[in-house]
Amino acid sequence: MAFPELKNDLLLKALKGEPVDRPPVWMMRQAGRYLPEYMELRKKYTFFERVETPELACEITMQPIRRFAPDAAIIFSDILVVLQALGIEVTLNPGEGPRLPNPVNTPEAALALTVPDVKDRLHYVIEALTLTRKELNGQATLIGFAGAPWTLFCYLIEGRGSKDFARAKAFYWQHPEAARHALKVISDTTILYLKAQIKAGAQVVQVFDSWSGLLSPEDFNEIAYPWLKQISDAIEEVPVILFAKGSWYALEGLTQRTNASALGVDWCVTPEYARQATMNKITLQGNFDPSKLLHHPDEITRLVHRMIDRFGAQRYIANLGHGILPYIPVENAGAFFDAVKSWGK
Ligand code: CP3
Repeated sequence: MAFPELKNDLLLKALKGEPVDRPPVWMMRQAGRYLPEYMELRKKYTFFERVETPELACEITMQPIRRFAPDAAIIFSDILVVLQALGIEVTLNPGEGPRLPNPVNTPEAALALTVPDVKDRLHYVIEALTLTRKELNGQATLIGFAGAPWTLFCYLIEGRGSKDFARAKAFYWQHPEAARHALKVISDTTILYLKAQIKAGAQVVQVFDSWSGLLSPEDFNEIAYPWLKQISDAIEEVPVILFAKGSWYALEGLTQRTNASALGVDWCVTPEYARQATMNKITLQGNFDPSKLLHHPDEITRLVHRMIDRFGAQRYIANLGHGILPYIPVENAGAFFDAVKSWGK
Protein backbone atom coordinates (compact mmCIF):
# COMPACT_ATOMS: atom_id res chain seq x y z
CA MET A 1 0.00 0.00 0.00
CA ALA A 2 1.34 3.45 -0.87
CA PHE A 3 0.94 6.00 1.90
CA PRO A 4 1.72 9.74 1.82
CA GLU A 5 5.40 10.49 2.47
CA LEU A 6 6.32 11.13 6.12
CA LYS A 7 7.22 14.81 6.36
CA ASN A 8 7.82 14.78 10.09
CA ASP A 9 10.24 12.01 11.07
CA LEU A 10 11.23 13.39 14.48
CA LEU A 11 9.74 10.45 16.41
CA LEU A 12 11.41 7.85 14.20
CA LYS A 13 14.74 9.70 14.52
CA ALA A 14 14.50 9.74 18.31
CA LEU A 15 13.62 6.03 18.30
CA LYS A 16 16.63 5.21 16.12
CA GLY A 17 18.92 7.36 18.25
CA GLU A 18 19.56 9.81 15.41
CA PRO A 19 20.33 13.46 16.25
CA VAL A 20 17.39 15.87 16.62
CA ASP A 21 17.10 19.62 17.25
CA ARG A 22 14.39 19.06 19.82
CA PRO A 23 12.71 15.94 21.20
CA PRO A 24 9.49 14.73 19.57
CA VAL A 25 6.33 15.14 21.63
CA TRP A 26 3.00 13.33 21.99
CA MET A 27 0.75 12.67 24.94
CA MET A 28 -0.73 9.42 26.19
CA ARG A 29 -4.55 9.63 25.84
CA GLN A 30 -4.11 12.78 23.74
CA ALA A 31 -7.46 11.94 22.12
CA GLY A 32 -9.94 12.02 24.96
CA ARG A 33 -12.27 13.64 27.38
CA TYR A 34 -10.35 16.89 28.02
CA LEU A 35 -11.10 17.91 24.40
CA PRO A 36 -14.50 19.60 23.83
CA GLU A 37 -14.65 18.17 20.29
CA TYR A 38 -14.25 14.64 21.73
CA MET A 39 -17.06 15.33 24.22
CA GLU A 40 -19.32 16.32 21.32
CA LEU A 41 -18.88 12.90 19.68
CA ARG A 42 -19.21 11.23 23.06
CA LYS A 43 -22.76 12.61 23.33
CA LYS A 44 -23.76 10.95 20.07
CA TYR A 45 -22.02 7.57 20.14
CA THR A 46 -21.16 4.97 22.78
CA PHE A 47 -17.50 4.22 23.51
CA PHE A 48 -17.42 1.04 21.44
CA GLU A 49 -19.33 2.71 18.59
CA ARG A 50 -16.53 5.27 18.49
CA VAL A 51 -13.89 2.54 18.62
CA GLU A 52 -15.55 0.24 16.07
CA THR A 53 -16.41 2.84 13.42
CA PRO A 54 -13.20 3.52 11.48
CA GLU A 55 -14.34 7.03 10.40
CA LEU A 56 -15.05 8.00 14.01
CA ALA A 57 -11.84 6.45 15.34
CA CYS A 58 -9.92 8.34 12.62
CA GLU A 59 -11.69 11.61 13.39
CA ILE A 60 -10.99 11.26 17.14
CA THR A 61 -7.33 10.40 16.47
CA MET A 62 -7.05 13.55 14.32
CA GLN A 63 -8.63 15.92 16.87
CA PRO A 64 -5.49 16.53 18.95
CA ILE A 65 -3.39 16.59 15.76
CA ARG A 66 -5.39 19.53 14.38
CA ARG A 67 -5.30 21.37 17.67
CA PHE A 68 -1.69 20.85 18.80
CA ALA A 69 0.29 19.38 15.87
CA PRO A 70 2.16 16.82 18.00
CA ASP A 71 4.83 14.66 16.34
CA ALA A 72 2.81 11.46 16.73
CA ALA A 73 -0.78 10.33 16.48
CA ILE A 74 -1.90 7.32 18.52
CA ILE A 75 -4.82 5.46 17.03
CA PHE A 76 -8.02 5.87 19.01
CA SER A 77 -8.96 2.43 20.34
CA ASP A 78 -8.59 0.56 23.61
CA ILE A 79 -6.42 -2.22 24.99
CA LEU A 80 -9.55 -4.20 25.94
CA VAL A 81 -10.53 -4.92 22.31
CA VAL A 82 -8.11 -7.87 22.41
CA LEU A 83 -10.20 -9.46 25.17
CA GLN A 84 -13.30 -8.91 23.01
CA ALA A 85 -11.48 -10.65 20.16
CA LEU A 86 -10.97 -13.61 22.53
CA GLY A 87 -14.75 -13.80 22.90
CA ILE A 88 -14.98 -12.00 26.25
CA GLU A 89 -17.72 -9.38 26.63
CA VAL A 90 -16.47 -5.93 27.72
CA THR A 91 -18.71 -2.95 28.49
CA LEU A 92 -17.77 0.64 29.19
CA ASN A 93 -20.36 2.99 30.61
CA PRO A 94 -19.50 6.61 31.38
CA GLY A 95 -18.21 7.10 34.90
CA GLU A 96 -17.98 3.38 35.60
CA GLY A 97 -14.79 2.19 33.90
CA PRO A 98 -14.50 -1.10 32.01
CA ARG A 99 -16.60 -4.10 33.11
CA LEU A 100 -16.46 -7.75 32.04
CA PRO A 101 -19.81 -9.32 32.96
CA ASN A 102 -18.33 -12.83 32.66
CA PRO A 103 -14.66 -12.69 33.67
CA VAL A 104 -12.52 -15.82 33.60
CA ASN A 105 -12.65 -17.29 37.10
CA THR A 106 -11.86 -20.96 36.68
CA PRO A 107 -8.77 -22.75 35.34
CA GLU A 108 -11.03 -24.53 32.83
CA ALA A 109 -12.20 -21.22 31.38
CA ALA A 110 -8.60 -19.99 31.13
CA LEU A 111 -7.47 -23.22 29.45
CA ALA A 112 -10.32 -22.94 26.92
CA LEU A 113 -8.98 -19.65 25.48
CA THR A 114 -7.65 -19.87 21.92
CA VAL A 115 -6.01 -17.43 19.51
CA PRO A 116 -8.71 -15.86 17.31
CA ASP A 117 -8.53 -14.60 13.72
CA VAL A 118 -7.52 -11.04 14.67
CA LYS A 119 -7.87 -9.63 11.15
CA ASP A 120 -11.49 -10.68 11.26
CA ARG A 121 -12.31 -9.80 14.87
CA LEU A 122 -10.41 -6.51 14.93
CA HIS A 123 -10.87 -5.47 11.30
CA TYR A 124 -12.20 -2.07 12.42
CA VAL A 125 -8.87 -1.12 14.08
CA ILE A 126 -7.02 -2.20 10.94
CA GLU A 127 -9.33 -0.05 8.78
CA ALA A 128 -9.07 2.91 11.17
CA LEU A 129 -5.27 2.80 10.95
CA THR A 130 -5.21 2.82 7.16
CA LEU A 131 -7.71 5.65 7.02
CA THR A 132 -5.81 7.68 9.63
CA ARG A 133 -2.42 7.12 8.00
CA LYS A 134 -3.82 8.66 4.79
CA GLU A 135 -5.58 11.46 6.65
CA LEU A 136 -2.39 12.37 8.54
CA ASN A 137 -0.72 12.99 5.21
CA GLY A 138 2.74 12.54 6.75
CA GLN A 139 2.34 15.35 9.30
CA ALA A 140 2.81 13.02 12.28
CA THR A 141 3.99 9.45 12.86
CA LEU A 142 1.18 6.96 13.44
CA ILE A 143 1.45 4.83 16.59
CA GLY A 144 -0.45 1.56 16.99
CA PHE A 145 -0.73 -0.11 20.38
CA ALA A 146 -1.82 -3.05 22.47
CA GLY A 147 -2.07 -3.88 26.15
CA ALA A 148 0.63 -6.15 27.57
CA PRO A 149 -0.45 -9.69 28.46
CA TRP A 150 -0.14 -9.17 32.24
CA THR A 151 -2.32 -6.01 32.14
CA LEU A 152 -4.96 -7.70 29.98
CA PHE A 153 -4.84 -10.76 32.25
CA CYS A 154 -5.63 -8.42 35.18
CA TYR A 155 -8.90 -7.31 33.53
CA LEU A 156 -9.67 -10.82 32.23
CA ILE A 157 -9.64 -12.31 35.74
CA GLU A 158 -10.75 -9.35 37.84
CA GLY A 159 -13.52 -8.28 35.47
CA ARG A 160 -13.00 -4.58 36.23
CA GLY A 161 -10.42 -2.03 37.27
CA SER A 162 -8.85 -2.51 40.70
CA LYS A 163 -6.29 -0.87 42.99
CA ASP A 164 -4.33 -4.07 43.47
CA PHE A 165 -5.70 -6.73 41.07
CA ALA A 166 -5.29 -9.15 43.96
CA ARG A 167 -7.67 -11.70 42.42
CA ALA A 168 -5.65 -11.77 39.21
CA LYS A 169 -2.42 -12.30 41.16
CA ALA A 170 -4.02 -15.02 43.31
CA PHE A 171 -5.34 -16.76 40.18
CA TYR A 172 -1.81 -16.88 38.80
CA TRP A 173 -0.42 -18.42 41.99
CA GLN A 174 -3.28 -20.89 42.43
CA HIS A 175 -3.49 -21.97 38.79
CA PRO A 176 -0.09 -21.24 37.24
CA GLU A 177 -0.55 -23.56 34.29
CA ALA A 178 -3.97 -22.20 33.32
CA ALA A 179 -2.75 -18.64 33.92
CA ARG A 180 0.29 -19.15 31.70
CA HIS A 181 -1.94 -20.59 29.00
CA ALA A 182 -4.12 -17.47 29.12
CA LEU A 183 -1.04 -15.20 29.06
CA LYS A 184 0.39 -17.11 26.10
CA VAL A 185 -2.86 -16.90 24.15
CA ILE A 186 -3.00 -13.15 24.83
CA SER A 187 0.65 -12.74 23.84
CA ASP A 188 0.32 -14.75 20.60
CA THR A 189 -2.85 -12.82 19.74
CA THR A 190 -1.11 -9.52 20.47
CA ILE A 191 1.78 -10.34 18.15
CA LEU A 192 -0.63 -11.10 15.28
CA TYR A 193 -2.63 -7.98 16.13
CA LEU A 194 0.41 -5.67 16.17
CA LYS A 195 1.70 -7.13 12.92
CA ALA A 196 -1.72 -6.50 11.35
CA GLN A 197 -1.63 -2.92 12.68
CA ILE A 198 1.80 -2.40 11.13
CA LYS A 199 0.64 -3.75 7.78
CA ALA A 200 -2.32 -1.39 7.96
CA GLY A 201 -0.14 1.67 8.53
CA ALA A 202 1.17 1.83 12.11
CA GLN A 203 4.75 3.17 11.97
CA VAL A 204 5.58 2.53 15.64
CA VAL A 205 3.85 0.35 18.22
CA GLN A 206 3.57 0.83 21.95
CA VAL A 207 2.79 -1.92 24.45
CA PHE A 208 1.06 -0.70 27.63
CA ASP A 209 1.79 -2.73 30.76
CA SER A 210 -0.21 -0.36 32.93
CA TRP A 211 -0.32 -2.66 35.95
CA SER A 212 3.16 -4.23 35.88
CA GLY A 213 4.14 -1.99 38.80
CA LEU A 214 1.79 -4.00 41.05
CA LEU A 215 4.22 -6.92 40.81
CA SER A 216 7.36 -7.42 42.89
CA PRO A 217 10.55 -7.49 40.81
CA GLU A 218 10.66 -11.31 41.10
CA ASP A 219 7.01 -11.69 40.09
CA PHE A 220 7.50 -9.21 37.25
CA ASN A 221 10.33 -11.38 35.90
CA GLU A 222 8.17 -14.47 36.01
CA ILE A 223 4.72 -13.16 35.07
CA ALA A 224 5.04 -9.98 32.99
CA TYR A 225 8.53 -9.84 31.49
CA PRO A 226 8.54 -13.04 29.34
CA TRP A 227 5.63 -11.75 27.25
CA LEU A 228 7.08 -8.25 26.87
CA LYS A 229 10.20 -9.94 25.55
CA GLN A 230 8.26 -12.32 23.31
CA ILE A 231 6.27 -9.47 21.78
CA SER A 232 9.14 -7.02 21.32
CA ASP A 233 11.37 -9.74 19.83
CA ALA A 234 8.63 -10.77 17.38
CA ILE A 235 8.11 -7.25 16.04
CA GLU A 236 11.02 -6.49 13.74
CA GLU A 237 9.13 -4.34 11.24
CA VAL A 238 8.91 -1.08 13.22
CA PRO A 239 10.23 0.39 16.49
CA VAL A 240 8.55 -0.88 19.67
CA ILE A 241 7.98 1.24 22.79
CA LEU A 242 7.50 -0.76 26.00
CA PHE A 243 5.76 1.03 28.85
CA ALA A 244 5.90 -1.06 32.02
CA LYS A 245 4.36 1.50 34.35
CA GLY A 246 5.74 1.46 37.88
CA SER A 247 8.39 -1.13 37.04
CA TRP A 248 11.42 1.11 37.52
CA TYR A 249 13.40 -1.99 38.55
CA ALA A 250 12.91 -3.47 35.06
CA LEU A 251 14.49 -0.63 33.07
CA GLU A 252 17.90 -2.27 32.97
CA GLY A 253 16.66 -5.75 32.02
CA LEU A 254 14.25 -4.48 29.37
CA THR A 255 17.12 -2.48 27.81
CA GLN A 256 19.57 -5.36 27.81
CA ARG A 257 17.34 -8.27 27.02
CA THR A 258 14.58 -7.08 24.65
CA ASN A 259 14.40 -5.70 21.17
CA ALA A 260 12.55 -2.52 22.30
CA SER A 261 13.60 0.82 20.75
CA ALA A 262 12.28 2.83 23.69
CA LEU A 263 11.04 2.46 27.24
CA GLY A 264 8.30 4.54 28.83
CA VAL A 265 8.89 5.91 32.33
CA ASP A 266 6.47 7.35 34.86
CA TRP A 267 7.10 10.28 37.20
CA CYS A 268 8.22 8.11 40.12
CA VAL A 269 11.59 7.69 38.38
CA THR A 270 14.09 10.53 38.06
CA PRO A 271 15.48 11.17 34.58
CA GLU A 272 18.94 10.62 36.02
CA TYR A 273 18.05 7.20 37.43
CA ALA A 274 16.32 6.16 34.19
CA ARG A 275 19.37 7.15 32.12
CA GLN A 276 21.74 5.39 34.46
CA ALA A 277 19.67 2.19 34.61
CA THR A 278 19.44 2.09 30.82
CA MET A 279 23.12 3.01 30.35
CA ASN A 280 22.22 5.66 27.75
CA LYS A 281 21.60 2.77 25.36
CA ILE A 282 17.91 3.25 24.66
CA THR A 283 15.40 6.02 23.96
CA LEU A 284 13.30 7.04 26.97
CA GLN A 285 9.75 8.37 26.89
CA GLY A 286 7.91 10.27 29.63
CA ASN A 287 7.52 11.29 32.40
CA PHE A 288 5.57 14.46 33.24
CA ASP A 289 3.15 13.93 36.13
CA PRO A 290 -0.27 14.44 34.44
CA SER A 291 -1.57 16.30 37.50
CA LYS A 292 1.12 18.95 36.96
CA LEU A 293 -0.85 20.02 33.89
CA LEU A 294 -3.05 21.81 36.43
CA HIS A 295 -0.22 24.34 36.96
CA HIS A 296 -0.37 27.73 35.26
CA PRO A 297 0.84 27.44 31.62
CA ASP A 298 3.98 29.47 32.46
CA GLU A 299 4.89 26.99 35.16
CA ILE A 300 4.14 24.07 32.80
CA THR A 301 6.58 25.60 30.32
CA ARG A 302 9.27 25.90 32.98
CA LEU A 303 8.76 22.35 34.25
CA VAL A 304 8.75 20.85 30.74
CA HIS A 305 11.98 22.66 29.81
CA ARG A 306 13.54 21.37 33.01
CA MET A 307 12.36 17.82 32.25
CA ILE A 308 13.99 17.95 28.79
CA ASP A 309 17.20 19.39 30.25
CA ARG A 310 17.35 16.51 32.71
CA PHE A 311 16.61 13.69 30.23
CA GLY A 312 18.64 15.37 27.49
CA ALA A 313 17.14 16.15 24.10
CA GLN A 314 18.66 13.14 22.32
CA ARG A 315 17.16 9.65 22.50
CA TYR A 316 14.19 11.17 24.25
CA ILE A 317 10.44 11.45 23.57
CA ALA A 318 8.65 14.10 25.61
CA ASN A 319 5.40 12.70 27.01
CA LEU A 320 3.43 12.38 30.21
CA GLY A 321 4.16 9.62 32.69
CA HIS A 322 0.61 8.29 32.16
CA GLY A 323 -2.56 9.39 30.35
CA ILE A 324 -3.86 12.95 30.46
CA LEU A 325 -6.65 13.50 33.00
CA PRO A 326 -10.16 14.42 31.76
CA TYR A 327 -10.32 17.71 33.70
CA ILE A 328 -7.12 19.28 32.36
CA PRO A 329 -7.83 22.64 30.65
CA VAL A 330 -7.14 22.47 26.92
CA GLU A 331 -4.84 25.54 27.13
CA ASN A 332 -2.68 23.72 29.66
CA ALA A 333 -2.35 20.69 27.38
CA GLY A 334 -1.43 23.18 24.63
CA ALA A 335 1.25 24.68 26.90
CA PHE A 336 2.84 21.23 27.25
CA PHE A 337 3.14 20.73 23.47
CA ASP A 338 4.33 24.33 22.93
CA ALA A 339 6.92 24.01 25.68
CA VAL A 340 8.58 21.03 23.99
CA LYS A 341 8.60 22.86 20.66
CA SER A 342 10.08 26.03 22.19
CA TRP A 343 12.79 24.16 24.13
CA GLY A 344 16.26 25.47 23.33
CA LYS A 345 14.91 28.54 21.49
O1 CP3 B 1 -3.78 7.50 24.06
C1 CP3 B 1 -4.70 7.65 23.25
O2 CP3 B 1 -5.17 8.78 22.96
C2 CP3 B 1 -5.25 6.43 22.51
C3 CP3 B 1 -6.40 5.85 23.02
C4 CP3 B 1 -6.37 4.95 24.24
C5 CP3 B 1 -7.52 4.76 25.02
N1 CP3 B 1 -7.25 3.77 25.91
C6 CP3 B 1 -8.78 5.47 24.83
C7 CP3 B 1 -9.75 5.49 25.93
C8 CP3 B 1 -5.37 4.11 24.74
C9 CP3 B 1 -3.92 3.98 24.33
C10 CP3 B 1 -5.96 3.37 25.80
C11 CP3 B 1 -5.25 2.32 26.53
C12 CP3 B 1 -5.82 1.77 27.75
N2 CP3 B 1 -7.12 1.46 28.02
C13 CP3 B 1 -5.04 1.37 28.85
C14 CP3 B 1 -3.55 1.44 28.93
C15 CP3 B 1 -3.07 2.80 29.18
C16 CP3 B 1 -3.35 3.30 30.55
O3 CP3 B 1 -4.06 4.31 30.63
O4 CP3 B 1 -2.84 2.70 31.49
C17 CP3 B 1 -5.93 0.86 29.83
C18 CP3 B 1 -5.54 0.33 31.20
C19 CP3 B 1 -7.23 0.91 29.28
C20 CP3 B 1 -8.49 0.41 29.89
C21 CP3 B 1 -9.46 1.49 29.99
N3 CP3 B 1 -10.14 2.03 28.91
C22 CP3 B 1 -9.88 2.18 31.14
C23 CP3 B 1 -9.34 1.90 32.54
C24 CP3 B 1 -10.84 3.11 30.74
C25 CP3 B 1 -11.69 3.98 31.61
C26 CP3 B 1 -10.97 5.23 31.93
C27 CP3 B 1 -11.83 6.16 32.73
O5 CP3 B 1 -11.21 7.00 33.35
O6 CP3 B 1 -13.09 6.07 32.68
C28 CP3 B 1 -10.96 3.04 29.34
C29 CP3 B 1 -11.79 3.89 28.49
C30 CP3 B 1 -11.11 4.81 27.56
N4 CP3 B 1 -10.14 4.42 26.68
C31 CP3 B 1 -11.37 6.21 27.35
C32 CP3 B 1 -10.54 6.63 26.32
C33 CP3 B 1 -10.47 7.98 25.68
C34 CP3 B 1 -12.43 7.01 28.07
C35 CP3 B 1 -13.73 6.70 27.42
C36 CP3 B 1 -14.76 7.78 27.58
O7 CP3 B 1 -15.40 7.79 28.63
O8 CP3 B 1 -14.90 8.57 26.64
